[in-house]
Amino acid sequence: MENLNFYNFIESSFFEDKEIVDNLKSSPQKKINSKHLYDENGSKLFEMITNLDDYYPTRSELEILDQKNVFKKNLPEKASIIEFGSGSNKKVRKLLEALSNPKEYIPIDISYEFLKTNAKELAKKFPKIKVKAICADFNKLGSLQNIIEHKSKNLGFFPGSTIGNFCPDDAKKLLKKFAKILGKNNYLVIGIDIRKDKKIMEKAYNDSEGITAEFNKNILKGINKKTGAKFDANSFEHLAYFNDKKKRIEMHLISKENQTVNVSNKKIKFEKGETIHTENSYKYSEKEFKELCNSSGYDVIDFVTDKNKYFGVFFLKVERI
Ligand code: TRP
Repeated sequence: MENLNFYNFIESSFFEDKEIVDNLKSSPQKKINSKHLYDENGSKLFEMITNLDDYYPTRSELEILDQKNVFKKNLPEKASIIEFGSGSNKKVRKLLEALSNPKEYIPIDISYEFLKTNAKELAKKFPKIKVKAICADFNKLGSLQNIIEHKSKNLGFFPGSTIGNFCPDDAKKLLKKFAKILGKNNYLVIGIDIRKDKKIMEKAYNDSEGITAEFNKNILKGINKKTGAKFDANSFEHLAYFNDKKKRIEMHLISKENQTVNVSNKKIKFEKGETIHTENSYKYSEKEFKELCNSSGYDVIDFVTDKNKYFGVFFLKVERI
């Protein structure tokens, strides 16, 4: 396709193996970096999660994206849209349809095949838009500076409450990084999950069809593939709960038995009941998130919610870098 370019910035596996082992040995809490959730199978499972009745965030955010006039009013024409962690095309399609004459679309995703399929589909559907697909960890974006021109109107798109998967300090660092990539006076549209009744939040991460459990356990299969480890995903159980003090959903895998797993020639010991922490999902109030944006260099130009006020979309402008 003429309007599609592809760039691959996935790092070599040596450093990755070391990071995986170090995190699995960390005490008192073993961890796996949540980016490993999104291998090809994981990306497909996550896509299924976004369609579940129990998982309200996607549904609520899509409802917000349907308010086309709000997007048109707040955002520039002929924009270059940069999506951090692009996943499926469902959300960006709505955004592209709402904007006037979008010029370029730059999806960034860690999952190669998934990105390729989706970028192709999008380039075909919007032949006038130049698609530059970047396979990368969006948290390590040094090389992006060469691909994104500062002369065009840049519009960062960060939906899905992915910012909630970073602790507030890291979220601030990431927002500052985005500001640098986008440039002063450019825009960022960002989705956040608003703190609400604990039961509703916990159900979204413990769905009755068990897809979230499968998604969480899939991280171990991905680690097996990457490092040659011998995790038995069935000897772990999915655990997700809201941590009131830290205002976040925590995702863990809990070992059903005492076991030792070989990872990259290192023995990792688990006691029965011990957990691996795989993900956090911070939930904010409107005020808390606005403060985070302001302290990261942005002005808030608008804030929109769905009718239940479950989810919020912030329209931000880079005020200082
Ligand atoms: N960004 C999503 C969220 O915080 C990621 C997510 C949804 C997730 N369900 C999950 C991560 C289950 C791990 C496990 O809602």
